[in-house]
Amino acid sequence: MKKSILLLFTCASFLASCTTRTYEEISETETSASPTFTANIEPIIKTNCIGCHSSGGRFPTLETYDQVKDATQNGDLICRIDQTQSCGNVMPRSGAMPRQTIDMIILWQKEGYKN
Ligand code: HEC
Repeated sequence: MKKSILLLFTCASFLASCTTRTYEEISETETSASPTFTANIEPIIKTNCIGCHSSGGRFPTLETYDQVKDATQNGDLICRIDQTQSCGNVMPRSGAMPRQTIDMIILWQKEGYKN
């Protein structure tokens, strides 16, 4: 009996530490002062967009640097993720991302789409 309680506690604290670490990693990603595609933008797109916007999915396809850059530069990607503007349903469809994430993508655009 004692052993199983100990085991349960060990599992619970392991899970808790995992959750904390994941959260910190995401926060770090989201607050870069000079974002690049590989380090900052791609993980956001993978998490929030690629489920629907992969090849064979919805337009625009957002799998590569060129595709994401093109959708930002020539398409309405920024307008769609930023609810302060209006050009259709907000992306992702489940609701806007945190403000700092949106701002970082706008910064990535302003700084000339660093790869
Ligand atoms: C649950 C599925 C889903 C997710 C996740 C999603 N989208 Fe979309 N997206 C759609 C659908 C469906 C449309 C077309 C209908 C519409 O315009 O609302 C669309 C349309 C768009 C358009 C407009 C395309 C055009 O016609 O000009 C852009 C840009 C876009 N999405 C970007 C994104 C970005 C960036 C993300 C991630 C932050 C994202 N989407 C996440 C389903 C999704």
